[in-house]
Amino acid sequence: MTEKKRIAVLVSGGGTNLQALIDAEKSGIIKSGTISLVLSSSKDAYALTRASDAGIKTLVVEKSLHPDRDEYSAAIKDALIEAKIDLVILAGFMYILTPSLISAFENRIINVHPALIPSFCGDGYYGLHVHEAALSYGVKVTGATVHFVSAVTDGGPVILQKAVEIHEDDTPKTLQRRVMEQAEWKILPLAAELFCAGRLRIEGRIVRILEETDTQSI
Ligand code: GAR
Repeated sequence: MTEKKRIAVLVSGGGTNLQALIDAEKSGIIKSGTISLVLSSSKDAYALTRASDAGIKTLVVEKSLHPDRDEYSAAIKDALIEAKIDLVILAGFMYILTPSLISAFENRIINVHPALIPSFCGDGYYGLHVHEAALSYGVKVTGATVHFVSAVTDGGPVILQKAVEIHEDDTPKTLQRRVMEQAEWKILPLAAELFCAGRLRIEGRIVRILEETDTQSI
């Protein structure tokens, strides 16, 4: 059997997507990788409690202590290299990584975004703002996207997407919750497993999902 890939999850807040990943590893949805590190930009992130409760190593790299963006990304890069990480998952991580970090982990960083990219994405679109934008635009369907991270914010190749209906009486908060429940918490663990099992092949902007080989399914 091949060794499990080492996953680092980068968080800044509540960590419900981290919880979905932890639960997916426990239930066997993620079977080709293991969460080896949870790195938080804030010592107060509830995601850290979720990680400790699951017995996962945590590390705080405080954004406030590294005001310089390049220096902040360099500190994260060092921690990821030190922990021998194969896959970096941005799960509600609120800082844009520098090209130097992205190229050190080229095609090995994935992000979950709470909209159907290329809608409602890019600089300034994060957290509740994304849902506010979708509601004020008046779209009837939104969703979530998991994509590879490139130097363009939310611009890397799309791995998985799932659509979610908007209701007439939605507020940004009710919509955020439905997008998480119906889309993010499902497609993020799935994408992590596909990556760890070696089933993603990037061809330019297109990500091909390969069939599970006989060897992998044994
Ligand atoms: C999630 O909805 C995630 O998609 C979003 O932040 C939330 C974090 O929640 N990320 C972005 O907006 C990135 N552009 P969580 O901490 O409970 O997982």
